[in-house]
Amino acid sequence: MKKTILCIGAGYVGGPTMAVIADQCPDYKVIVVDMNAERIAAWNSDELPIYEPGLDEVVRRARGRNLFFSTDVSSGIKEAGIIFVSVNTPTKTFGDGAGKAANLQYWEKTARDIVEHSGHDKIVVEKSTLPVRTAEAMHRILMANTKGLNFEVISNPEFMAEGTAISDLQNPDRVLIGAMETPTGQKALQEIIDIYSNWVPRERIKTTNVWSSELSKLVSNAMLAQRISSVNSISALCEQTDANIVDVSAAMGADSRIGSKFLRASVGFGGSCFKKDILNLVYLCEFYGLPEVAEYWEQVVKINDYQAKRFVKNIAARMFNTVADKRIAVFGFAFKADTGDTRESPAIAVSHLLLEEHAELAIYDPKALDEAKKDMKDAQGKIEYIDDPYEAVKGAHAIALLTEWKEFTEYDYVKIFELMEKPAFIFDGRNILDHKKLFEIGFNVYPIGQAAMSHLN
Ligand SMILES: NC(=O)c1ccc[n+]([C@@H]2O[C@H](COP(=O)([O-])OP(=O)(O)OC[C@H]3O[C@@H](n4cnc5c(N)ncnc54)[C@H](O)[C@@H]3O)[C@@H](O)[C@H]2O)c1
Repeated sequence: MKKTILCIGAGYVGGPTMAVIADQCPDYKVIVVDMNAERIAAWNSDELPIYEPGLDEVVRRARGRNLFFSTDVSSGIKEAGIIFVSVNTPTKTFGDGAGKAANLQYWEKTARDIVEHSGHDKIVVEKSTLPVRTAEAMHRILMANTKGLNFEVISNPEFMAEGTAISDLQNPDRVLIGAMETPTGQKALQEIIDIYSNWVPRERIKTTNVWSSELSKLVSNAMLAQRISSVNSISALCEQTDANIVDVSAAMGADSRIGSKFLRASVGFGGSCFKKDILNLVYLCEFYGLPEVAEYWEQVVKINDYQAKRFVKNIAARMFNTVADKRIAVFGFAFKADTGDTRESPAIAVSHLLLEEHAELAIYDPKALDEAKKDMKDAQGKIEYIDDPYEAVKGAHAIALLTEWKEFTEYDYVKIFELMEKPAFIFDGRNILDHKKLFEIGFNVYPIGQAAMSHLN
């Protein structure tokens, strides 16, 4: 083996990223460690801890050959020359900056572990999403070692999206690597470029200084989320004016300066990153004395919360101003299709709001039912978790579609209509169903940002 790479953190990023590196670079040994023994056991089993299309095949090809999963953090640190750190960096829930700033305790612990167990110089790569200038703190902690060791800190944020992680990693739009502008920093930069050059065309490997790299990741997520909130805000106006958000998005997106992607109206964005990263950006702007900039970005999160609330308000209003004791089938709990991840899923907020109105929920999701149970375990009210959509709709007054799983477009809605109470309602929070067809079957249909199709007036 040419080199040993270690990754600390075997989560949604560390696992798939390292699996692809090992798959593409057979002459590197890749070790992924995590303090969560259950997670590591799952990575070593046939039931991987996360669902991603294509992940099983990649792991099967590399595992045991040059890809290893372990809980032995200290041995991994001793052995590796390059250490990727991919631990979680959630929003702080306590003290100064609570609710906005990033909680860097897991991050700092890895820095201290690296110092403690290192016996030779290393390159430490920030894979986690971090506030701009974190590398400075990391470097200080690492260089406070008393063994005379040198550490280079590189920023290499991850841009893959859950649900398409493997294809994003195999064929990335860009790989961003930020390094210190010192001779040793530039040497470390080249070592990381060498890894990616095994499969990524050189022109897609972008290099910057560390601070630009750190900030680019936060801003990329903020810009993506901002597009969704912008379209969602206009969806509310469409519903008041008989304009159709699908047509408005298409017309807007045809302008090549705007582009057509990420302009779909929906019940809102979710996932572990968008909200956390925007709030972190907001905190940084406040910290650096830029309240107007902070306020601008905070509005993206506010509109997202508003959209989920608006969705539930609409459900109640359309269903004769009460959903109390009415069964509502929730179609989809994952924050997006093709993942079992429910972190910050709009389904969580929508479900809680519906329960507050005393609705009874029958939740179905093809991949995320176990996570849904964990997310809703403290909720007050009646919830059933059902692994068959046709069972979930039995006796339901309404369907609230919250995730854009393709299978939702393929169901037999004539059968579903028969199984439901009448009048039957569908609230399509992702605008993926054939609304006209559903209306003809007899449903009262409420898309986002489009005219309702109702038999009731
Ligand atoms: N999930 C995404 O789509 C995505 C995309 C790009 C970037 N990111 C960023 O990547 C980072 C990781 O995200 P994730 O979704 O993989 O998180 P995750 O919670 O799924 O995984 C993090 C893992 O790190 C482990 N860990 C924490 N501290 C540790 C320590 N000291 N030693 C060993 N293991 C430790 C945890 O046990 C956990 O398994 C975050 O900063 C996130 O913002 C996430």
